[in-house]
Amino acid sequence: MNKTKYIWMDGKTKKWKDAKVHIITHTLHYGAGVFEGIRIYKTPDGPAIFRLQDHIKRLFFSANAIGMKVPYSQKEIIDETLKLVKKNKMKEGYIRHLIIYGYGKMGVNPVGAPVSVSISMWGWGSYLGEHDISVKTSKYIRIHPESTVTSAKIIGHYSNSILASLEATNAGYDEALFLDHKGNVAEGAAENVYIVKKGVIYTPPDYGILSGLTRDAIKHVAKDLGIKFVEKSLKLKDVYSADEVFFTGTAAEVTPISKVDDKKIGDGKNYPVAAELKKNFLNITKGKNAKYKKWLTYIK
Ligand SMILES: Cc1ncc(COP(=O)(O)O)c(C=O)c1O
Repeated sequence: MNKTKYIWMDGKTKKWKDAKVHIITHTLHYGAGVFEGIRIYKTPDGPAIFRLQDHIKRLFFSANAIGMKVPYSQKEIIDETLKLVKKNKMKEGYIRHLIIYGYGKMGVNPVGAPVSVSISMWGWGSYLGEHDISVKTSKYIRIHPESTVTSAKIIGHYSNSILASLEATNAGYDEALFLDHKGNVAEGAAENVYIVKKGVIYTPPDYGILSGLTRDAIKHVAKDLGIKFVEKSLKLKDVYSADEVFFTGTAAEVTPISKVDDKKIGDGKNYPVAAELKKNFLNITKGKNAKYKKWLTYIK
């Protein structure tokens, strides 16, 4: 992580080392908080934030899902984000918006705890590396969609992801794959998942998963490239027998998967569809596709 100079917290810009919370912070104890991860890319017209408005919209949706009243408007958060990117002289990297229940109230029910908002940013390369990865199906199932609001990016959900991720890396794999409570393929620990079969892309439907903004972008890219994109329940056997498997996410971008459990995917080294999607996706993020400049917020 390449840290930056400043962090914005509750209306004040602080030095990185001074952006602290009290140990009796509600979210630290119970996991009820929300966040976003956003990338900022270098483009020929200067740095640009990818899908900033959509991420902030999801941030507020997530906050609302856990009853948080955010003491700022979406526009204020967007404006503060842009100011902080400039102040930090960020050219590319990762932006983290975090909203937590703060100090002043204990007990599971957060009513009465102050809501605290922060914006941080740091330099962050490719999350899962530049190359293909191996993936292990987790023994833990993805959180049941009726146990929580799975379409919200709630901090507590990530304990499920952390268990699966530790299990995968301890077994020598790069990342975890979740099945859901019905035994259908759900998503990665922090990524959406896809298979390619006979030139068609299949991905699990938008239920019980975090339906990513990258997933939405990939849907557009596939359409533009004339590749069929189908949302359909998938079983593990569909993954094992696929020609290609890949993950997407803000952090992971487009990451091909060479192995799932002990099964090699396709020939284990060529990913023509994932490679084409990745190239076109990165062109969009880097401002090289006029059609999608609307997804970029340029730093002026
Ligand atoms: C569980 C989970 N699924 C999917 C995604 C991909 O979402 P996005 O493309 O919006 O980053 C993420 C990352 O935020 C995630 O944490």
